[in-house]
Amino acid sequence: MPDILVLYYSRGGSVARLARQIARGVGEVEGMQARLRTVPPVAAVTQAAAPPVPEDGAPYVERADLAECAGLLLGSPTRFGNMAAPLKHFLDGLGAEWASGTLVGKPAAVFTSTATQHGGQESTLLSMMLPLLHHGCVIAGIPYTEPALSATREGGTPYGASHVAGGGDDPQPSDDEAVLARALGRRVAALAARLA
Ligand SMILES: Cc1cc2nc3c(=O)[nH]c(=O)nc-3n(C[C@H](O)[C@H](O)[C@H](O)COP(=O)(O)O)c2cc1C
Repeated sequence: MPDILVLYYSRGGSVARLARQIARGVGEVEGMQARLRTVPPVAAVTQAAAPPVPEDGAPYVERADLAECAGLLLGSPTRFGNMAAPLKHFLDGLGAEWASGTLVGKPAAVFTSTATQHGGQESTLLSMMLPLLHHGCVIAGIPYTEPALSATREGGTPYGASHVAGGGDDPQPSDDEAVLARALGRRVAALAARLA
C-alpha cells in the first residue's frame, strides 16, 4: 500500500505538531502509513540556498513523494489569511506534475495554524485547496459526524484541521484540535484505501 504524503511548512512548530497528529490518524487505517515531508524556507536573497537536509523535523519533499503517494495533506501557517510563501513556492514549481497528471484522482486535505481565532484559518485552508483542485485531487474535509467539530472552542473546521496558537504562539494542539487532526488523517487514508 503506498504512503499518504503529509507535506507542510512550519516555522514555530504549530503546523508541525498538527502534521504529527494527522500522521497518527493515517496510521490508524489498516495498511496505511504517513510520509512526513517539509519544504525549504524561501529568502528575499534568491541566491540563498537551503541546507541540503533540514536541521530538524521532516526531510524535504522530493518529486517522487508526489508520484508515490496515494493521497496527500498540505499544511501551512496562516500568513495574512493565506498560505506561507515556502509552500506556495514549492507548489508553483509543480508544472511538470500538473502536465502529467501525477496527482489526478488522489484524495487530499489541508491544515493550518493561526495566532488568533478569527485570523483567517478558513481563507488559508481554501487557498491551499485551489492548487489541489487544479492538480485533479479529490478534496476531503472534516464532517460534523466528528463530535469534536461541534465541541471545539479553539481550532478544527469542516474545511480542514487547524490550531489556534494564541498570542504566546503555543504550538501544542488542544485535545479537540488533536482529535480532529487525527480524524482528517484517518479520512484521507481511508479514502485512498477505498479508491485503491
Ligand atoms: C508574516 C506573518 C503573517 C501572519 N499572519 C497571520 C494572520 O493573518 N492571522 C493570524 O491569526 N496569525 C497570523 N500569523 C501568525 C501565525 O499564523 C501563527 O503564529 C502560526 O501558529 C505559526 O505556525 P508555525 O508555528 O507552524 O510556524 C502570521 C505570522 C507571520 C510571521
